[in-house]
Amino acid sequence: MKYAHIVGWGSYLPEKILTNNDLARMVETSDEWIYTRTGIKERHIAGERETTATLAFEAAARALAVADLHPSQVELIIVATSTPEYIFPSTACRVQDYLGAARAGAFDLSAACSGFVYGLSMAANAIATGSVRNALVVGAETLSRVIDWQDRGTCILFGDGAGAVVLKGMSVPGGVLASTLRSDGSGGELLTLPAVYHNPVPMLGPEYLLQNGHKKNTIHMNGRQVFRFATKVVADAIEEVVHKAGLTLNDIDLIVPHQANVRIIESASKRLKIPMEKFFLNVDRAGNTSAASIPVALCDAVAANRLKPNDNVVFVGFGGGLTWGAAVVKWAVTPPEVSLLDREWKRARYIAARTRSRMRKWGRRVGAWLGGSPTPEARLKDANRPRRRKRRQ
Ligand code: COA
Repeated sequence: MKYAHIVGWGSYLPEKILTNNDLARMVETSDEWIYTRTGIKERHIAGERETTATLAFEAAARALAVADLHPSQVELIIVATSTPEYIFPSTACRVQDYLGAARAGAFDLSAACSGFVYGLSMAANAIATGSVRNALVVGAETLSRVIDWQDRGTCILFGDGAGAVVLKGMSVPGGVLASTLRSDGSGGELLTLPAVYHNPVPMLGPEYLLQNGHKKNTIHMNGRQVFRFATKVVADAIEEVVHKAGLTLNDIDLIVPHQANVRIIESASKRLKIPMEKFFLNVDRAGNTSAASIPVALCDAVAANRLKPNDNVVFVGFGGGLTWGAAVVKWAVTPPEVSLLDREWKRARYIAARTRSRMRKWGRRVGAWLGGSPTPEARLKDANRPRRRKRRQ
């Protein structure tokens, strides 16, 4: 039995910032309204050339640098996201390719804002059972692409970003001590994002969506009901997972919750009688980045020296599905010093990985050509060519 320790962490937020005042110029709202109801001041928005996979890659590369793990040693990549570029190939496979992680299995995980906790739990179990020795768990989103920018009830909440952790199996007790994962599909319609390849939400039907003024392929939310759900499950999940780990609430040093809304966290703090200082918050600067929010907040917590070896930290997530979950981790590492030279040298690996990937693509084309199969372009041309009808004999 191995213990799955977090040995690396990294995050990436796009350069472009959208403030509450910027939003007030787009919809009828104000900085004061947004801040007092949510605690959010600003969020980051992906640039034109950025996608969920490029954000995830940046966070993953940083996490691997901290873990001092070569990409070729990575055995499993899980990307939790609700905004993949494609249904397939998965974003995780694109990240695998960008990293040059030639020996890794890779898949996307869909559990909305709980995705990171779900991924962490899956990866820790895979390590504990000996199926893999290490895993990269990423939460990454480009929610700005699926927001209805005219809906002031949702567009003020979300932002883009990515965060990642490296888990490694060790014989030293600690790491992920316990996790709890839950869902309640009966509340699915409270928070929805129709699949990009499919207009209607099968669960609700196109008539329902149109009658209720829904637009296709954007997030729809019943804010009040989601708020009520969240305040209940955050407290319940923390209590449950702490109990499962054989600890008490007093043993917990830090809670890194999903960064959706400060008022949700304040409510959990009151219910559990845990002071707000024990909850780490960065929602003011990043907004709700869904699956990315917990690992991004974790990186900020480490940077702010909020974690030291032997601390017990709880991650708690909740969101669409409905889903929720929590994990307790015994923190074991102090952040290593990574020199600039070392960082640049590690980045050079990824340029080499992209070159290798391109060469493999070209190799496949040449192989197909030599083997007599048409290129994808020629196949498309052929498919579009008007065909003569066969005469009936
Ligand atoms: N700016 C100004 N006014 C706004 C507004 C905005 N951005 N959004 C809504 N309003 C208005 C509403 O139209 C309503 O006006 P009315 O009373 O004249 O009808 C009023 O503010 C109250 O709306 P309501 O939806 O009840 O506000 P609220 O206090 O519930 O706050 C949320 C709205 C979205 C901030 C809150 O419900 C929330 O945070 N919910 C949880 C969302 C969440 O975390 N989702 C992600 C989960 S992973």
